[in-house]
Amino acid sequence: MAELAIYPGSFDPPTLGHLDVIERAATLFPQVRVAIGMNSGKQAPFLPVESRLRALRAMTVNLPNVSVDQFDGLLVQYAKAQGAGVIIRGLRLTADFDYEFQIALANRRLDPDVETLFLMTKWEHSYLSSSIVREVARLGGDYSSFVHPEVAAIIAGELGG
Ligand code: PNS
Repeated sequence: MAELAIYPGSFDPPTLGHLDVIERAATLFPQVRVAIGMNSGKQAPFLPVESRLRALRAMTVNLPNVSVDQFDGLLVQYAKAQGAGVIIRGLRLTADFDYEFQIALANRRLDPDVETLFLMTKWEHSYLSSSIVREVARLGGDYSSFVHPEVAAIIAGELGG
Protein backbone atom coordinates (compact mmCIF):
# COMPACT_ATOMS: atom_id res chain seq x y z
CA MET A 1 0.00 0.00 0.00
CA ALA A 2 1.13 3.54 -0.70
CA GLU A 3 2.38 5.36 2.40
CA LEU A 4 1.45 8.82 1.18
CA ALA A 5 -1.52 9.98 -0.88
CA ILE A 6 -1.79 13.48 -2.33
CA TYR A 7 -5.20 15.15 -2.45
CA PRO A 8 -4.72 18.06 -4.88
CA GLY A 9 -7.11 20.84 -5.76
CA SER A 10 -7.68 24.55 -6.02
CA PHE A 11 -9.63 24.59 -2.73
CA ASP A 12 -10.84 28.11 -3.47
CA PRO A 13 -12.37 27.89 -0.91
CA PRO A 14 -12.27 24.38 0.63
CA THR A 15 -15.82 23.09 1.24
CA LEU A 16 -17.39 20.46 3.49
CA GLY A 17 -17.32 18.19 0.44
CA HIS A 18 -13.53 18.49 0.36
CA LEU A 19 -13.38 17.82 4.10
CA ASP A 20 -15.43 14.66 3.66
CA VAL A 21 -12.98 13.38 1.03
CA ILE A 22 -10.00 14.29 3.26
CA GLU A 23 -11.52 12.46 6.25
CA ARG A 24 -12.17 9.33 4.25
CA ALA A 25 -8.74 9.41 2.59
CA ALA A 26 -7.20 9.72 6.07
CA THR A 27 -8.74 6.37 7.03
CA LEU A 28 -7.34 4.70 3.90
CA PHE A 29 -3.72 5.93 3.89
CA PRO A 30 -1.09 6.35 6.63
CA GLN A 31 -0.38 9.90 5.41
CA VAL A 32 -2.49 12.27 3.33
CA ARG A 33 -1.19 15.56 1.97
CA VAL A 34 -3.74 18.10 0.84
CA ALA A 35 -1.95 20.15 -1.80
CA ILE A 36 -3.09 23.40 -3.40
CA GLY A 37 -2.17 23.43 -7.07
CA MET A 38 -2.60 25.88 -9.88
CA ASN A 39 -5.52 25.17 -12.22
CA SER A 40 -4.60 27.05 -15.39
CA GLY A 41 -8.29 27.16 -16.38
CA LYS A 42 -9.09 29.29 -13.33
CA GLN A 43 -7.87 32.87 -13.17
CA ALA A 44 -8.04 35.49 -10.40
CA PRO A 45 -8.42 33.42 -7.24
CA PHE A 46 -11.17 34.21 -4.74
CA LEU A 47 -8.90 33.55 -1.73
CA PRO A 48 -5.12 34.08 -1.76
CA VAL A 49 -3.10 30.88 -1.42
CA GLU A 50 -2.05 31.82 2.13
CA SER A 51 -5.71 32.01 3.21
CA ARG A 52 -6.47 28.68 1.56
CA LEU A 53 -3.51 27.08 3.37
CA ARG A 54 -4.78 28.54 6.66
CA ALA A 55 -8.32 27.33 5.92
CA LEU A 56 -7.19 23.79 5.09
CA ARG A 57 -4.96 23.64 8.19
CA ALA A 58 -7.79 24.85 10.42
CA MET A 59 -10.28 22.29 9.12
CA THR A 60 -7.83 19.36 9.36
CA VAL A 61 -6.30 20.24 12.73
CA ASN A 62 -7.87 17.13 14.33
CA LEU A 63 -6.57 14.76 11.66
CA PRO A 64 -2.99 13.91 12.73
CA ASN A 65 -2.05 12.08 9.54
CA VAL A 66 -3.11 14.96 7.27
CA SER A 67 -0.74 17.72 6.22
CA VAL A 68 -1.27 20.73 3.98
CA ASP A 69 1.01 22.10 1.27
CA GLN A 70 1.03 23.94 -2.04
CA PHE A 71 2.84 23.18 -5.27
CA ASP A 72 3.73 24.82 -8.56
CA GLY A 73 4.02 22.99 -11.84
CA LEU A 74 2.85 19.51 -12.70
CA LEU A 75 0.97 17.44 -10.15
CA VAL A 76 2.70 14.16 -11.05
CA GLN A 77 6.12 15.80 -10.65
CA TYR A 78 5.10 17.08 -7.23
CA ALA A 79 3.72 13.65 -6.28
CA LYS A 80 6.96 11.94 -7.34
CA ALA A 81 9.13 14.46 -5.51
CA GLN A 82 7.09 13.83 -2.35
CA GLY A 83 7.34 10.05 -2.77
CA ALA A 84 3.55 9.73 -3.15
CA GLY A 85 2.18 6.81 -5.17
CA VAL A 86 -1.45 7.89 -5.15
CA ILE A 87 -3.45 10.96 -6.17
CA ILE A 88 -6.93 11.23 -4.63
CA ARG A 89 -9.76 13.04 -6.40
CA GLY A 90 -13.35 13.43 -5.31
CA LEU A 91 -16.20 12.66 -7.72
CA ARG A 92 -19.65 14.25 -7.57
CA LEU A 93 -22.48 12.82 -9.64
CA THR A 94 -21.63 12.47 -13.33
CA ALA A 95 -20.66 16.08 -14.02
CA ASP A 96 -17.04 15.60 -12.91
CA PHE A 97 -16.45 12.37 -14.72
CA ASP A 98 -15.32 13.45 -18.21
CA TYR A 99 -12.87 16.02 -16.89
CA GLU A 100 -11.48 13.75 -14.19
CA PHE A 101 -11.13 10.82 -16.56
CA GLN A 102 -9.18 12.97 -19.02
CA ILE A 103 -6.83 14.38 -16.37
CA ALA A 104 -6.28 10.97 -14.75
CA LEU A 105 -5.32 9.43 -18.10
CA ALA A 106 -3.01 12.36 -18.92
CA ASN A 107 -1.36 12.03 -15.52
CA ARG A 108 -0.93 8.28 -15.99
CA ARG A 109 0.72 8.90 -19.34
CA LEU A 110 3.03 11.46 -17.73
CA ASP A 111 3.93 9.10 -14.88
CA PRO A 112 2.58 5.52 -14.85
CA ASP A 113 3.86 5.00 -11.28
CA VAL A 114 1.34 7.45 -9.81
CA GLU A 115 -2.17 6.02 -9.50
CA THR A 116 -5.31 8.17 -9.37
CA LEU A 117 -7.96 7.02 -6.91
CA PHE A 118 -11.50 8.47 -6.92
CA LEU A 119 -13.62 8.80 -3.81
CA MET A 120 -17.32 9.47 -4.24
CA THR A 121 -18.51 12.42 -2.22
CA LYS A 122 -21.32 11.85 0.23
CA TRP A 123 -24.78 12.32 -1.25
CA GLU A 124 -25.48 15.35 0.96
CA HIS A 125 -22.44 17.14 -0.51
CA SER A 126 -22.98 16.11 -4.11
CA TYR A 127 -24.33 19.53 -5.18
CA LEU A 128 -21.61 21.48 -3.40
CA SER A 129 -18.69 23.17 -5.14
CA SER A 130 -16.21 25.95 -4.43
CA SER A 131 -17.80 27.98 -7.22
CA ILE A 132 -21.21 27.83 -5.49
CA VAL A 133 -19.62 29.04 -2.25
CA ARG A 134 -17.84 31.87 -4.10
CA GLU A 135 -21.06 32.93 -5.80
CA VAL A 136 -23.13 32.88 -2.60
CA ALA A 137 -20.39 34.72 -0.67
CA ARG A 138 -19.91 37.41 -3.31
CA LEU A 139 -23.64 38.04 -3.48
CA GLY A 140 -24.02 38.37 0.28
CA GLY A 141 -25.75 35.03 0.95
CA ASP A 142 -25.26 32.68 3.89
CA TYR A 143 -22.54 30.20 2.96
CA SER A 144 -21.98 28.94 6.53
CA SER A 145 -23.58 25.54 5.91
CA PHE A 146 -21.23 24.88 2.95
CA VAL A 147 -17.89 25.29 4.72
CA HIS A 148 -16.16 24.58 8.04
CA PRO A 149 -16.77 27.39 10.59
CA GLU A 150 -13.07 28.41 10.53
CA VAL A 151 -13.23 28.64 6.75
CA ALA A 152 -16.39 30.75 6.96
CA ALA A 153 -14.51 33.14 9.26
CA ILE A 154 -11.57 33.33 6.85
CA ILE A 155 -13.92 34.08 3.92
CA ALA A 156 -15.71 36.74 5.97
CA GLY A 157 -12.34 38.30 6.83
CA GLU A 158 -11.27 38.36 3.18
CA LEU A 159 -14.55 39.85 1.98
CA GLY A 160 -14.61 42.39 4.80
CA GLY A 161 -11.01 43.42 4.29
O1 PNS B 1 -9.90 21.79 -7.61
P1 PNS B 1 -9.46 21.72 -9.05
O2 PNS B 1 -9.45 23.10 -9.67
O3 PNS B 1 -10.25 20.74 -9.86
O4 PNS B 1 -7.93 21.22 -9.00
C1 PNS B 1 -7.22 21.05 -10.21
C2 PNS B 1 -5.71 20.78 -9.96
C3 PNS B 1 -5.08 21.98 -9.24
C4 PNS B 1 -5.54 19.54 -9.12
C5 PNS B 1 -5.10 20.58 -11.37
O5 PNS B 1 -5.37 21.70 -12.17
C6 PNS B 1 -3.59 20.33 -11.33
O6 PNS B 1 -3.18 19.23 -11.04
N1 PNS B 1 -2.81 21.38 -11.64
C7 PNS B 1 -1.36 21.27 -11.70
C8 PNS B 1 -0.90 21.15 -13.17
C9 PNS B 1 -1.17 19.76 -13.67
O7 PNS B 1 -0.47 18.81 -13.30
N2 PNS B 1 -2.24 19.59 -14.48
C10 PNS B 1 -2.71 18.29 -14.93
C11 PNS B 1 -1.87 17.74 -16.05
S1 PNS B 1 -2.73 17.79 -17.53
